[in-house]
Amino acid sequence: MSQQPLWTTEALARAMGGRLVGAPAATVSDLSIDTRTLAAGEAYVAIKGHAHDGHAFVQAALDKGAALAVVSQDWAATAPPGAYIVVADPLKALEKAGIVARARTAAKIVAVTGSIGKTSTKEALAHVLSREGRTHAPPKSFNNHIGVPLTLSRMPAGSQFGVFEIGMNHAGEITPLTRMVKPDIAVITNVEAVHIENLGTIEAIADAKAEIFAGVEHGGAAVLPRDSRHFERLARAARAAGIDTIVTFGEHEEADVRLLRVVLAADCSTVSARIMETDVTYKLGSPGRHLAMNSLAVLAAAKLAGADLAVAALTLGETRAVAGRGERTQRRLASGSFTLLDESYNANPVSVRAAIAVLGTAPKGPEGRRIAVLGDMLELGPEGPALHAGLAEPLDKAGIDLVFCSGPLTESLWRALPPHRRGAWAATSAELGPLVIRALRAGDVAMVKGSRGSLMAPLVETLKQKFPPVPADEHQGAT
Ligand SMILES: Nc1ncnc2c1ncn2[C@@H]1O[C@H](COP(=O)(O)OP(=O)(O)OP(=O)(O)O)[C@@H](O)[C@H]1O
Ligand SMILES: [Mg+2]
Repeated sequence: MSQQPLWTTEALARAMGGRLVGAPAATVSDLSIDTRTLAAGEAYVAIKGHAHDGHAFVQAALDKGAALAVVSQDWAATAPPGAYIVVADPLKALEKAGIVARARTAAKIVAVTGSIGKTSTKEALAHVLSREGRTHAPPKSFNNHIGVPLTLSRMPAGSQFGVFEIGMNHAGEITPLTRMVKPDIAVITNVEAVHIENLGTIEAIADAKAEIFAGVEHGGAAVLPRDSRHFERLARAARAAGIDTIVTFGEHEEADVRLLRVVLAADCSTVSARIMETDVTYKLGSPGRHLAMNSLAVLAAAKLAGADLAVAALTLGETRAVAGRGERTQRRLASGSFTLLDESYNANPVSVRAAIAVLGTAPKGPEGRRIAVLGDMLELGPEGPALHAGLAEPLDKAGIDLVFCSGPLTESLWRALPPHRRGAWAATSAELGPLVIRALRAGDVAMVKGSRGSLMAPLVETLKQKFPPVPADEHQGAT
């Protein structure tokens, strides 16, 4: 089965409604839209993005050994010799290939949306399901109008499970994507005021998430957050879309997958839950109450997909926090070492609070301090400054010793902090980096977080370059 090519070139051209030109190889091993990661034998699809037109990289793709390039007929009119599938619009062609890939597989398909925790949930679920059978899932978020059809079209016909992430910035974006994915199981992780700038109200956000139900297959199921203030609204929308099976998760006593107890440790959690009448206790390999909540959705979806619950729960113990989403490393300083918590991937008030809570329980050395390094949380609308200032309270509650801030929105937080908690403020993350570097000392634990646009990931990179990792066997807990 695994020897079967992803696509024969002919089948791909047919699925895309395109015309084969030149002499392409008989099969295509994968699809790619990025020549930087493209491997020989793959089909390169020339997509027009905001900044670049992928057609500019067709030659680079063919030079790297691409089996063929999927190009527009306009471009093909003056194309140099090569192997092509010529289509009216490569993005539309990718969608068509995705739809065919979906139709030809018998895999159980899960689609995950929600304001926060889509990728964390998708990755944990894919990890769990891959124990049960051949599982297809995207390597990163891949949750938009390009990522979703790309992921679909890359799904091997023989997959037994598929896990997709569907995101949105505006109302109406999820509907066409879920209609392509046609999930058997639709998961909504939560509904929070993320992207509220575009949607206006939290109810509008809930309705936009509920669009995921539009694509659910006949007889399919919805996994919904029982603790959400918008649960009833979501459940109503699910029923209106003809979904009879609604499985709820959360702490609520009526939740089908109910959190009974969670013990939070520095680098893992132990969760006890009642999962559709079965009591299960399991370990999670990455820390934080928020991930424990996500794990309930993971197990609900896994069970609906037919997975063995005991195995699934056991498998969750193997998951580890990754770079940008809670990765924890020990870094060397002249005088010892400090712990770096890399949460730099993205941020909003809910996920920053979750990360602050994790930092508050992280072990530190005798002279060490708990340090939060925070960049602006973007796309919050007029409430932005107040939502930043509002972080002063959880920082206080978690006993965070020092706070470093960068970006204009964090100014309100900076002003709300008591003087003893103020590390430094800078206009940009690039300017903040050296100030953090200068402040760090042995035994500290530093957590870095901010919206992608606040460029906290480069700050983490700077810290990592400056302070090499301490091998795991060299340190025991904090310094
Ligand atoms: N249920 C949750 N509650 C609060 N924070 C969470 C939750 N799940 C994950 N997080 C944190 O939120 C951040 C973003 O998580 P993740 O990447 O899973 O979200 P996402 O919904 O995929 O985001 P995006 O819309 O950017 O793709 C991470 O720092 C993660 O640790
Ligand atoms: Mg994501």
